Amino acid sequence: MSYVDSLADLLIDCVEGGASVSFMLPISKETALRFWEQVANGVVRNERILLVAESPEGRLVGTVQLITALPENQPHRADVAKMLVCRAARRQGIAARLMAAIEKEARRAGKSVLVLDTVTGGDAGRLYERAGWQRVGDVPNYALMPDGSLCGTTFFHKQLP
Ligand SMILES: CC(C)(COP(=O)(O)OP(=O)(O)OC[C@H]1O[C@@H](n2cnc3c(N)ncnc32)[C@H](O)[C@@H]1OP(=O)(O)O)[C@@H](O)C(=O)NCCC(=O)NCCS
Repeated sequence: MSYVDSLADLLIDCVEGGASVSFMLPISKETALRFWEQVANGVVRNERILLVAESPEGRLVGTVQLITALPENQPHRADVAKMLVCRAARRQGIAARLMAAIEKEARRAGKSVLVLDTVTGGDAGRLYERAGWQRVGDVPNYALMPDGSLCGTTFFHKQLP
């Protein structure tokens, strides 16, 4: 199975689990494949860094991205995006390790200011606060949950040493 195929299955698992990560239900395999193909093209163009977490058996269980291609007045900044861990592998510290690894990649890429956003009151917010991210604030009714209900979005930033 290719990485794009495994990443598509991971995205579907998260959206079907209720994660607000840009996609609505029902999410088709075709939609998920198209998304990851575009991400892969961005990686090839050096516009983003993609990390994956694999189980000891080699199964893809998590992923996160760093979007490095930003306007020319923000060469020191990057966005962290699409932190996803499959439902079967959660609460084992995989996301925490993915975050530590992507921050290391950010430093290596010369980035000193990172920004991300996540659904207000969700599991991910606790993860980011534990990892030392500063909460900027909430925007009510910013996006839709996969089932169509409105949700708020919380913005975070981290200044890297
Ligand atoms: C948010 C998400 C990435 C977290 O992934 P994860 O790998 O479960 O994260 P962690 O294991 O690092 O931490 C999750 C919890 O497990 C706990 N934990 C970590 N290792 C543990 C262990 N060995 N034993 C017991 N609990 C553990 C953490 O303390 C944390 O506790 P909390 O729920 O009180 O905050 C995951 O739930 C997910 O993919 N959600 C859907 C997609 C999403 O919303 N992504 C964010 C987009 S911005």
